[in-house]
Amino acid sequence: MAERTPLIAGNWKMHKTGPEAVQAAGELVKLTADAKQVDILIAPAFTSLALVAEILEGSRIMLAGQNMHWEPKGAFTGEVSADMLLAAGCSHVILGHSERRQFFGETDQNINKKLKSALAAGLKSIICIGESETERDEGKTFSVLDKQVQNGLKGLFSEDFGEVILAYEPVWAIGTGKTATSQQAQQVHAYLREQLAKAYGKTVADSIRILYGGSVKPENIAELMAMDDVDGALVGGASLDPQTFSRLVHYQN
Ligand code: PGA
Repeated sequence: MAERTPLIAGNWKMHKTGPEAVQAAGELVKLTADAKQVDILIAPAFTSLALVAEILEGSRIMLAGQNMHWEPKGAFTGEVSADMLLAAGCSHVILGHSERRQFFGETDQNINKKLKSALAAGLKSIICIGESETERDEGKTFSVLDKQVQNGLKGLFSEDFGEVILAYEPVWAIGTGKTATSQQAQQVHAYLREQLAKAYGKTVADSIRILYGGSVKPENIAELMAMDDVDGALVGGASLDPQTFSRLVHYQN
Protein backbone atom coordinates (compact mmCIF):
# COMPACT_ATOMS: atom_id res chain seq x y z
CA MET A 1 0.00 0.00 0.00
CA ALA A 2 1.20 3.49 -0.79
CA GLU A 3 2.57 5.58 2.06
CA ARG A 4 0.20 8.47 2.67
CA THR A 5 1.62 11.30 4.76
CA PRO A 6 -1.05 12.47 7.19
CA LEU A 7 -2.34 15.98 6.58
CA ILE A 8 -3.77 18.13 9.36
CA ALA A 9 -5.56 21.11 7.82
CA GLY A 10 -7.15 24.07 9.59
CA ASN A 11 -10.03 25.90 7.93
CA TRP A 12 -10.30 29.28 9.66
CA LYS A 13 -13.54 30.14 7.82
CA MET A 14 -14.64 33.76 8.39
CA HIS A 15 -12.50 34.26 11.49
CA LYS A 16 -9.47 36.43 12.25
CA THR A 17 -8.54 39.83 10.84
CA GLY A 18 -5.16 40.19 9.14
CA PRO A 19 -3.27 41.06 12.35
CA GLU A 20 -5.02 38.27 14.26
CA ALA A 21 -4.18 35.77 11.53
CA VAL A 22 -0.53 36.87 11.51
CA GLN A 23 -0.35 36.44 15.28
CA ALA A 24 -1.90 32.96 15.17
CA ALA A 25 0.24 31.83 12.23
CA GLY A 26 3.41 33.02 14.02
CA GLU A 27 2.48 30.98 17.09
CA LEU A 28 1.71 27.95 14.96
CA VAL A 29 5.06 28.07 13.19
CA LYS A 30 6.80 27.84 16.58
CA LEU A 31 4.45 25.27 18.08
CA THR A 32 4.58 22.86 15.14
CA ALA A 33 8.23 23.18 14.05
CA ASP A 34 9.01 19.72 15.47
CA ALA A 35 6.04 17.93 13.83
CA LYS A 36 7.89 16.43 10.89
CA GLN A 37 5.76 13.30 10.35
CA VAL A 38 2.68 15.20 9.25
CA ASP A 39 1.84 17.77 6.61
CA ILE A 40 0.20 20.90 7.99
CA LEU A 41 -2.01 23.41 6.20
CA ILE A 42 -4.05 26.46 7.19
CA ALA A 43 -6.76 28.25 5.24
CA PRO A 44 -7.21 31.83 6.45
CA ALA A 45 -9.63 34.37 4.95
CA PHE A 46 -8.61 35.92 1.59
CA THR A 47 -7.64 39.20 3.28
CA SER A 48 -5.02 37.42 5.41
CA LEU A 49 -3.45 35.13 2.82
CA ALA A 50 -0.55 37.29 1.65
CA LEU A 51 0.20 38.44 5.21
CA VAL A 52 0.20 34.90 6.55
CA ALA A 53 2.29 33.66 3.60
CA GLU A 54 5.14 35.88 4.78
CA ILE A 55 4.96 34.41 8.27
CA LEU A 56 4.92 30.83 6.94
CA GLU A 57 7.92 31.30 4.69
CA GLY A 58 10.59 28.73 5.52
CA SER A 59 8.16 26.74 7.70
CA ARG A 60 6.47 23.46 6.82
CA ILE A 61 2.97 24.93 7.06
CA MET A 62 1.17 25.18 3.73
CA LEU A 63 -1.38 27.83 2.82
CA ALA A 64 -4.81 27.39 1.21
CA GLY A 65 -7.65 29.56 -0.01
CA GLN A 66 -11.16 28.64 1.14
CA ASN A 67 -12.74 29.03 -2.30
CA MET A 68 -12.06 30.48 -5.75
CA HIS A 69 -13.76 31.24 -9.07
CA TRP A 70 -13.21 29.01 -12.09
CA GLU A 71 -12.46 31.84 -14.51
CA PRO A 72 -8.88 33.11 -14.62
CA LYS A 73 -10.01 36.76 -14.54
CA GLY A 74 -12.91 39.01 -15.46
CA ALA A 75 -15.94 40.90 -14.27
CA PHE A 76 -16.81 38.70 -11.27
CA THR A 77 -17.15 41.12 -8.37
CA GLY A 78 -16.15 39.62 -5.05
CA GLU A 79 -14.36 36.61 -6.51
CA VAL A 80 -10.70 35.54 -6.70
CA SER A 81 -8.96 33.28 -9.23
CA ALA A 82 -6.53 30.38 -8.92
CA ASP A 83 -3.68 32.60 -10.07
CA MET A 84 -4.52 35.17 -7.40
CA LEU A 85 -4.38 32.48 -4.72
CA LEU A 86 -1.06 31.22 -6.07
CA ALA A 87 0.36 34.74 -6.15
CA ALA A 88 -0.79 35.27 -2.56
CA GLY A 89 1.32 32.26 -1.53
CA CYS A 90 -1.23 29.43 -1.60
CA SER A 91 -0.38 25.91 -2.69
CA HIS A 92 -3.94 24.62 -2.12
CA VAL A 93 -7.58 25.62 -2.30
CA ILE A 94 -10.56 24.14 -0.47
CA LEU A 95 -13.44 23.49 -2.88
CA GLY A 96 -17.05 22.53 -2.24
CA HIS A 97 -17.12 23.03 1.51
CA SER A 98 -20.62 22.23 2.75
CA GLU A 99 -21.08 25.81 3.94
CA ARG A 100 -20.46 26.99 0.39
CA ARG A 101 -22.89 24.38 -0.93
CA GLN A 102 -25.49 25.30 1.71
CA PHE A 103 -25.25 29.11 1.84
CA PHE A 104 -23.76 30.14 -1.50
CA GLY A 105 -25.38 27.79 -4.00
CA GLU A 106 -22.22 25.83 -4.76
CA THR A 107 -23.01 22.86 -7.00
CA ASP A 108 -21.01 19.79 -8.05
CA GLN A 109 -20.89 21.31 -11.54
CA ASN A 110 -19.31 24.53 -10.26
CA ILE A 111 -16.91 22.59 -8.06
CA ASN A 112 -15.87 20.59 -11.11
CA LYS A 113 -15.15 23.77 -13.08
CA LYS A 114 -13.16 25.17 -10.16
CA LEU A 115 -11.21 21.95 -9.78
CA LYS A 116 -10.21 21.96 -13.44
CA SER A 117 -9.22 25.60 -13.28
CA ALA A 118 -7.12 24.94 -10.15
CA LEU A 119 -5.43 21.97 -11.85
CA ALA A 120 -4.66 24.04 -14.93
CA ALA A 121 -3.11 26.77 -12.76
CA GLY A 122 -1.05 24.34 -10.65
CA LEU A 123 -3.02 24.77 -7.45
CA LYS A 124 -3.82 21.63 -5.43
CA SER A 125 -7.44 21.09 -4.39
CA ILE A 126 -9.12 19.76 -1.28
CA ILE A 127 -12.55 18.63 -2.43
CA CYS A 128 -15.17 18.45 0.32
CA ILE A 129 -18.04 16.01 0.19
CA GLY A 130 -20.55 14.81 2.75
CA GLU A 131 -24.13 13.87 3.44
CA SER A 132 -26.69 15.74 5.56
CA GLU A 133 -28.33 14.22 8.61
CA THR A 134 -31.57 13.57 6.73
CA GLU A 135 -29.72 11.89 3.89
CA ARG A 136 -27.91 9.64 6.38
CA ASP A 137 -31.15 8.82 8.21
CA GLU A 138 -32.78 7.92 4.90
CA GLY A 139 -29.91 5.55 4.05
CA LYS A 140 -28.68 7.75 1.20
CA THR A 141 -25.12 8.40 2.43
CA PHE A 142 -23.35 6.38 -0.25
CA SER A 143 -25.55 7.52 -3.13
CA VAL A 144 -25.06 11.18 -2.14
CA LEU A 145 -21.29 10.71 -1.96
CA ASP A 146 -21.26 8.83 -5.28
CA LYS A 147 -23.00 11.73 -6.96
CA GLN A 148 -20.69 14.33 -5.40
CA VAL A 149 -17.58 12.37 -6.39
CA GLN A 150 -18.75 11.48 -9.90
CA ASN A 151 -19.90 14.99 -10.76
CA GLY A 152 -17.29 16.88 -8.80
CA LEU A 153 -14.36 14.91 -10.28
CA LYS A 154 -15.87 14.48 -13.75
CA GLY A 155 -13.34 14.53 -16.59
CA LEU A 156 -10.30 14.08 -14.37
CA PHE A 157 -7.50 11.78 -15.48
CA SER A 158 -5.64 9.39 -13.19
CA GLU A 159 -2.54 11.58 -13.43
CA ASP A 160 -4.46 14.57 -12.02
CA PHE A 161 -4.96 12.87 -8.69
CA GLY A 162 -1.55 13.81 -7.32
CA GLU A 163 -3.05 17.31 -7.02
CA VAL A 164 -6.30 16.27 -5.38
CA ILE A 165 -7.20 15.56 -1.76
CA LEU A 166 -10.68 14.43 -0.70
CA ALA A 167 -12.30 15.53 2.55
CA TYR A 168 -15.24 13.57 3.88
CA GLU A 169 -17.21 15.97 6.04
CA PRO A 170 -20.62 14.72 7.12
CA VAL A 171 -22.71 17.90 7.28
CA TRP A 172 -24.31 16.80 10.56
CA ALA A 173 -20.90 16.72 12.22
CA ILE A 174 -19.66 20.18 11.18
CA GLY A 175 -19.58 22.66 14.03
CA THR A 176 -22.12 20.60 15.94
CA GLY A 177 -19.88 18.78 18.38
CA LYS A 178 -21.28 15.52 16.93
CA THR A 179 -18.29 13.66 15.48
CA ALA A 180 -18.75 10.63 13.30
CA THR A 181 -17.43 7.64 15.20
CA SER A 182 -14.10 6.40 13.95
CA GLN A 183 -15.94 3.34 12.58
CA GLN A 184 -18.42 5.51 10.68
CA ALA A 185 -15.55 7.53 9.21
CA GLN A 186 -13.57 4.42 8.30
CA GLN A 187 -16.59 2.82 6.63
CA VAL A 188 -17.12 5.84 4.39
CA HIS A 189 -13.42 6.38 3.65
CA ALA A 190 -12.96 2.72 2.69
CA TYR A 191 -16.03 2.96 0.46
CA LEU A 192 -14.70 6.09 -1.26
CA ARG A 193 -11.32 4.47 -1.84
CA GLU A 194 -13.02 1.41 -3.32
CA GLN A 195 -15.05 3.59 -5.71
CA LEU A 196 -11.93 5.53 -6.73
CA ALA A 197 -10.14 2.24 -7.41
CA LYS A 198 -12.97 1.19 -9.73
CA ALA A 199 -13.03 4.51 -11.56
CA TYR A 200 -9.35 5.48 -11.67
CA GLY A 201 -7.34 2.40 -10.70
CA LYS A 202 -5.63 1.08 -7.62
CA THR A 203 -2.63 3.42 -7.78
CA VAL A 204 -4.87 6.48 -7.54
CA ALA A 205 -7.01 4.92 -4.81
CA ASP A 206 -3.98 3.87 -2.75
CA SER A 207 -2.22 7.19 -2.98
CA ILE A 208 -5.01 9.77 -2.62
CA ARG A 209 -5.40 11.27 0.83
CA ILE A 210 -8.89 11.23 2.30
CA LEU A 211 -9.33 13.60 5.24
CA TYR A 212 -12.11 13.45 7.79
CA GLY A 213 -13.77 16.67 8.91
CA GLY A 214 -16.52 17.46 11.42
CA SER A 215 -15.94 18.36 15.07
CA VAL A 216 -12.37 17.01 15.14
CA LYS A 217 -10.84 17.84 18.53
CA PRO A 218 -7.71 16.88 20.49
CA GLU A 219 -9.89 14.36 22.36
CA ASN A 220 -11.00 12.40 19.28
CA ILE A 221 -8.29 12.88 16.64
CA ALA A 222 -6.05 9.95 17.61
CA GLU A 223 -8.93 7.51 17.37
CA LEU A 224 -9.93 8.83 13.93
CA MET A 225 -6.36 8.86 12.64
CA ALA A 226 -5.88 5.25 13.79
CA MET A 227 -8.32 4.15 11.06
CA ASP A 228 -6.66 2.63 7.98
CA ASP A 229 -8.33 4.92 5.47
CA VAL A 230 -8.35 8.19 7.43
CA ASP A 231 -5.34 10.13 6.18
CA GLY A 232 -5.83 13.41 7.95
CA ALA A 233 -8.28 15.93 9.32
CA LEU A 234 -9.92 19.09 8.07
CA VAL A 235 -10.58 21.09 11.21
CA GLY A 236 -12.75 24.17 11.67
CA GLY A 237 -13.45 25.34 15.22
CA ALA A 238 -10.51 23.58 16.87
CA SER A 239 -8.04 25.07 14.38
CA LEU A 240 -8.60 28.66 15.53
CA ASP A 241 -6.58 28.46 18.73
CA PRO A 242 -2.91 27.75 17.92
CA GLN A 243 -2.36 25.70 21.09
CA THR A 244 -5.33 23.47 20.31
CA PHE A 245 -4.40 23.12 16.63
CA SER A 246 -0.86 22.23 17.66
CA ARG A 247 -2.27 19.45 19.86
CA LEU A 248 -4.10 18.14 16.79
CA VAL A 249 -0.92 18.26 14.74
CA HIS A 250 0.84 16.35 17.53
CA TYR A 251 -1.87 13.69 17.76
CA GLN A 252 0.77 10.95 17.61
CA ASN A 253 2.52 12.13 20.80
P1 PGA B 1 -15.60 21.90 12.56
O1 PGA B 1 -15.59 22.27 11.00
O2 PGA B 1 -14.27 21.27 12.88
O3 PGA B 1 -15.80 23.21 13.28
O4 PGA B 1 -16.72 20.94 12.78
C1 PGA B 1 -15.02 21.41 10.08
C2 PGA B 1 -15.08 22.03 8.71
O5 PGA B 1 -16.06 22.74 8.43
O6 PGA B 1 -14.17 21.84 7.88
